[in-house]
Amino acid sequence: MPEPAQAHDELISTLTWPPSLTPPPAGSLSFTPNRGLGYPTSLKMAMQHRAPRGTADILPSDQKYWRYIEGKARDLSRRFGYSRLDTPVFEDSGLFVRSVGEGTDIVEKEMYTFLDRGGDSNTLRPEGTAPVCRAYLEHGMQNLPQPVRMYYFCPVFRYERPQAGRYREHHQFGVEALGVGDPSVDAEVVELAWSLVSSLGLADTSLMVNSIGDRECRPAYIDKLKEHYTRSKGQLCRDCLDRLDRNPLRLLDCKQASCQGLGMEAPRSVDHLCEGCQDHWDSFQRYLDTMGLPYRIDHHLVRGLDYYTRTVFEIQPKEEGGQSTILGGGRYDGLIEQIGGKPTPGIGFATGMERLVLNLKRQEVPVPDEPSPDYMVISAGDGARDAALDLAARMRRSGAGAILSTAGRALRGQLRQANALGVRYALILGDDEISRGEVTVRDMSSSEQEAVSVDSFLEKLDEGR
Ligand code: HAM
Repeated sequence: MPEPAQAHDELISTLTWPPSLTPPPAGSLSFTPNRGLGYPTSLKMAMQHRAPRGTADILPSDQKYWRYIEGKARDLSRRFGYSRLDTPVFEDSGLFVRSVGEGTDIVEKEMYTFLDRGGDSNTLRPEGTAPVCRAYLEHGMQNLPQPVRMYYFCPVFRYERPQAGRYREHHQFGVEALGVGDPSVDAEVVELAWSLVSSLGLADTSLMVNSIGDRECRPAYIDKLKEHYTRSKGQLCRDCLDRLDRNPLRLLDCKQASCQGLGMEAPRSVDHLCEGCQDHWDSFQRYLDTMGLPYRIDHHLVRGLDYYTRTVFEIQPKEEGGQSTILGGGRYDGLIEQIGGKPTPGIGFATGMERLVLNLKRQEVPVPDEPSPDYMVISAGDGARDAALDLAARMRRSGAGAILSTAGRALRGQLRQANALGVRYALILGDDEISRGEVTVRDMSSSEQEAVSVDSFLEKLDEGR
C-alpha cells in the first residue's frame, strides 16, 4: 500500500487539469499519524466534498418540478409522434468539433475533453444534437420512414462561468426530426416547443424566429455583414473584434451597448436569402400563421452553434431577453454530411430543465406534489416491531404505499413524524392490537381512530385497488 501522501500525488498526476487550474505540487499533502491527513488550506475546501462548481444536486424537495416537466414533455412528444433515444454521456471528441464548429465558444473554451487510458480523446456531451445524428447514421435510420422523430433527456456539460441559470452540468430535454427538409417540419417542431412552454403554465415568454440562409446564400451575406462592422471596427468590443474573423454571424447577438448599436443598422439575413431559402422562409411563416403561433421575427437571432441553416428560433422570458433563453433550436441540413453521412436535413430544439424550473418557481406556477404513501405503520413498543414489519410488507405487496415508522420512539413522537410526512393514516400496532389480530387506524386529519382486524383491513385495501 502506498503512503497516503504518495497515493495522493499519484492521483493528482493522473488527472487532466483544465488550463485555468494548476495541479497542486507533489508533496503538498502531509500525513501526521493519528491526526489524519494534513491538507494544505487550498486543498481543504476540495476535501469537504461539495458538489463541483457549476453543478447542483437535485434535492427531493425539487423533484416535483422535474417530474412535472418530464411528464409534460414525454406526453407531448408521444402526441407528436416522437420516440425516446438515449445516447452515451461521452462521445469521440471529433464528433463535436466537426458539428458544433471549431470557432464556437463551446468547442474552443467549454468542452470537458479527456484522454482515456487507451489514448482516445473523448468529450462529455456539450449538446444533444450531434449524438442523435451520430446514432441515426450508426443504426441505419435513413432506411426508416422519414422523418425519424426522436426526443431525449440528457445531462450536458459546458465549462462556463456559473451564474443563475447557467451551469457546468445542466440537463436538456430536446427533440430532433431527421430526414425531411420541408418547412412544415420546422413548423411542427416550433409548435411542439411552444406547446411545451405553454402547457407548463409559463407566461410572459416570447417566441422569436429568423432565417440565417444556407451555404449557397450565407457567404455573400457574411461578406456584407463583415463590411458593415469593419467600417465601424473602432466601436466593437474585444470579443466582437475576434468574432469579425472567426464567427461574424455572432456579432449580431452581442449584448454590449456599442455593438448593439451597430447591430441595429446591420444588413439582415432575411434580405439576402437565395430562392430556396426564401421559399422555405415564406412557407415556414405561413404555417406558423396557420397554426396561430404568436411568433416575432428577430433579425439578430443567430444561435451559438455553427451547424444551423435556414430556420432558427428561441423562446425567451420577456423581461430578460436572450441572456436567459429558455429554449433554442433550428434546422441543420448540413450536419449529418459533416459527420460522414449523405446530405440529410434535420431540425430540432433543446430546452434547459434548470431554466424551466427557475421560471416555474419565479412565476409561482402551481406544480403538483409528488404522491407520497398514504400510510405509516407505527409499532407502539419494541414487541410490536415484527408485526409492523409484516403488515407494512403485506401492504406494499398488495400495491399500497406504507412507510415504516422508526423503532424506539414514543407513540406521540411517531405520530408527529406521520404528520410531518403528510400521510393520511397512521396504523398503530401495540401489544393489545396484536393479541386481538387488530390494527388501530388513525385518520391524521380528524384524529379519529378505530380498531379493525388486520385481515379485513388488508382485504379492503385489495378491493380498493
Ligand atoms: P443551446 O441553445 O446551446 O442549443 O442549448 C439549449 C438550451 O439549453 C438553452 O436554451 C438553455 O435553456 C439551456 N442551456 C444551455 N446552456 C446552459 C447552461 N450552461 N446552463 C443551463 N442551461 C443551459 C443546443 O444545445 C442545441 N443542441 C439545441 C438544438 C437541438 N438545436 C437543434 N436541435
